[in-house]
Amino acid sequence: MPAERSFFITTPIYYVNDQPHLGHAYTTVACDALARFMRLDGYRVRFLTGTDEHGQKIEQSARAAGLSPQQFTDRVSAAFRDMSRLLDISYDDFIRTTEPRHVRGVEALWRELARRGEIYLGRFAGWYAVRDEAFYDESELVDGKAPTGAEVEWVEEENYFFRLSAWQDRLIAFYEANPDAVAPRSRRNEVISFVRSGLKDLSISRTSFRWGIPVPGDPRHVIYVWLDALANYLTAIGYPDTESPDFTRFWPADLHMVGKDILRFHAVYWPAFLMAAGLKPPRRVFAHGWWTVEGQKMSKSLGNFITPDTMIATYGLDPVRYFLLRELPFGNDGDFSHRAVVGRLNGDLANDFGNLAQRVLTMINRNCEARVPEPGAFSQADRALLEAARALLPNVRGHMAEQAFHLALETIWRVVGEANRYVDEMAPWALARSDPARMHTVLYTLAEVIRHLAILVQPFVPGSAGRLLDQLAAGPQARDFRALAAAPLQPGTALPKPAGIFPRFVENAAAAAGRG
Ligand code: MSP
Repeated sequence: MPAERSFFITTPIYYVNDQPHLGHAYTTVACDALARFMRLDGYRVRFLTGTDEHGQKIEQSARAAGLSPQQFTDRVSAAFRDMSRLLDISYDDFIRTTEPRHVRGVEALWRELARRGEIYLGRFAGWYAVRDEAFYDESELVDGKAPTGAEVEWVEEENYFFRLSAWQDRLIAFYEANPDAVAPRSRRNEVISFVRSGLKDLSISRTSFRWGIPVPGDPRHVIYVWLDALANYLTAIGYPDTESPDFTRFWPADLHMVGKDILRFHAVYWPAFLMAAGLKPPRRVFAHGWWTVEGQKMSKSLGNFITPDTMIATYGLDPVRYFLLRELPFGNDGDFSHRAVVGRLNGDLANDFGNLAQRVLTMINRNCEARVPEPGAFSQADRALLEAARALLPNVRGHMAEQAFHLALETIWRVVGEANRYVDEMAPWALARSDPARMHTVLYTLAEVIRHLAILVQPFVPGSAGRLLDQLAAGPQARDFRALAAAPLQPGTALPKPAGIFPRFVENAAAAAGRG
């Protein structure tokens, strides 16, 4: 047996100053699809998510809510766990930066950086945006605000600094030696030109508020929230115990998934901190794009703020998951509109895939005594369709390795399209009288293709795929990717009564509510 391959994937840890929304759901669903894919493909996966709970922004939000920071973070962190449950997220670990395991690890990381001479005490004078929890240079400001539009304030404090400037050349060497470490390509270029333009030392402590991890040996300071937060990827797998089985197995992380707004922290500061502490940088950071909603930036004041609850109540969970991963080339920005969701839902899901499965399984139920039919000799057309289904895994795997979720789905749906054309051409309903033996071969071919499709769509629409596999009587052992080739449908197997898996979306609140 070859050694079990491992895969460590992370979402950003979410700030608890806000309720979960479409943007958080997006990153999390993308990671979930990939984590599920890798598990089905035989990897030992560690999928980490969690909440980022320290810093000035959280302290201010707690005060505004009339709660202590700990009460406030307990409440909102729970809302993020609820989001994950609602979205059927298969995370293995949920870390909170207020947990003792994290605090201990961050303290150790700080001490290690200090021991290696990477930290010094200095004086900071510059602009700080609380919303971004980021420092900005005068030259970066646009109309007196951060380039992100966040308000900035002038800060002058005694701070500890990290010698980021000393890492410029080693960062460039790292990007060059690892062309896939930052993706997509256009973002990688941005990161490289940012680093080439010159790095200044980075302030990594604050003294003007209290809500954070005190600097070891100098508790007047709290550790900068981004250093604290990034370290979650280490502390969740046992840092500082770098000899532990989890740490040796899972570090360096295979993929940090992030939004484009936080790429600099993950692709510049983070690898520099890690190398400075004598640790390997992550294998890959992928920055995805941002959603607008009905053409506008999502905001509470515009009334277009979409929560996971609303999305799921309106469209159902799997349609939402499918839409998020199919609609945009992953990495690009895009627009979430009711029209677009309904188009995908009624087109790709209900008409194309749902109908295919429903038609075929209903015919088997009625014309084959509800058992997997016994095929005769396969024709050229049968073999071509079966081959197309069997060729899917390597193609889809290639797209998933590049986080091209949209291409993975497009590839699978191409076979859905071929199967639908095959049904129309073969017209099995007409064969029921004229040539029942041929009908059995055609329906077997289709059922076997649908089995492939159902197994492959599990990472994206796990609930619906599971129900479809139930209808094909595929047991728990017959659902991973090995089963594609190893467990073809056995003629004679009794099949349960079929039921639709992707209902159409009907523009009528009452009907929609009744969809369950
Ligand atoms: N706490 C930091 C991350 C620390 S990781 C060590 C943070 N949190 S966040 O809650 O503000 O954002 C989390 C993620 O949500 C980011 O990846 C961000 O890009 C994503 N999104 C927030 N709004 C979004 C959209 N409108 N569209 C898509 N993703 C967006 O940043």
